[in-house]
Amino acid sequence: MRVGKGYGYGKTILVGEHFVVSGNHAIAAGISAKTTCTIERTKGTDYELVDNRLETPGYKKEKAEQMKESLQLIFAAMKIDPKKTPFRITLAGDLVAASGVGASAANCAAIARALSDEFKLKMSDEQINAVAYQGEMGYHGTPSGIDNTAAVFGGLLWYQKGTPPKFEPIQAKTKVEIVLGDTGLVGNTKELVAGVQARRQKDPQAYDKIFKEAEELAIKTKKALEAGDIKTLAACMNRNQELLRMVGVSHSALEELVQIAREEGAPAAKLTGGGGGGLMIALTPGKNLQQKVAKAMQAKGYRTFEAVIG
Ligand code: MEV
Repeated sequence: MRVGKGYGYGKTILVGEHFVVSGNHAIAAGISAKTTCTIERTKGTDYELVDNRLETPGYKKEKAEQMKESLQLIFAAMKIDPKKTPFRITLAGDLVAASGVGASAANCAAIARALSDEFKLKMSDEQINAVAYQGEMGYHGTPSGIDNTAAVFGGLLWYQKGTPPKFEPIQAKTKVEIVLGDTGLVGNTKELVAGVQARRQKDPQAYDKIFKEAEELAIKTKKALEAGDIKTLAACMNRNQELLRMVGVSHSALEELVQIAREEGAPAAKLTGGGGGGLMIALTPGKNLQQKVAKAMQAKGYRTFEAVIG
């Protein structure tokens, strides 16, 4: 039987998460791990969901309501009514469903692509991205759109939110190994984003200063990537972590992983994505350092994902 097929990449954010929600630039790197989706027509009365993705324990349960809301937003955006044309959505792939790796966005992109394929809508990547953005609203409330854009297009992206979003690929001079350390805790991106915005309103002067520095860091990071300047890249990522701490989105488990990475010799380590748990990224140039950092994190009971960016 023919099935509709789709996929969406995972991502990590090198600099600019949270600040990007208010219009700053940020840099995302797609990772090769992806979520896949198939759509099969059924004789049921509505859609069915079979979620075979690997997960951080508790992730799917925690996100179940947001997933339902997200699906309705995707169906509405694509003008598909599962009550009239019932189908089964099956999710799988090698991207572990965890906070910080763009799991919700990869899932939205994969579903949008598979529905477009099954219903022969011939949607362009830009159209898929617009649908995935709608789907992300079910999870985030006010997403910047960076996660779904990375999920649809992959690669290294210079991103600014907007309608449509402004983004372009960054031509990095060198590839760099990274380790993603998983706290195993599910972060609530919606609440974390709202928290930063609320604290900004209470103390605009201090927050404006932090947001301004975050924008300067993003610009400097882009130049460092283009020049293959790992030292400056690392300094920018480390400073970005300090700014994220200041706006209140770090977590003790993230700080422990950052410390492990630094002690093992990683030139940079920071949280990546929404924070409050979820994932951190360590810059680990060279396979040996990558292995060393990953092993040290695993020894403390953390799950790791190794990847290469650029
Ligand atoms: C989440 O991966 C990134 C945030 O900046 C939220 C967003 O951009 O929508 C925290």
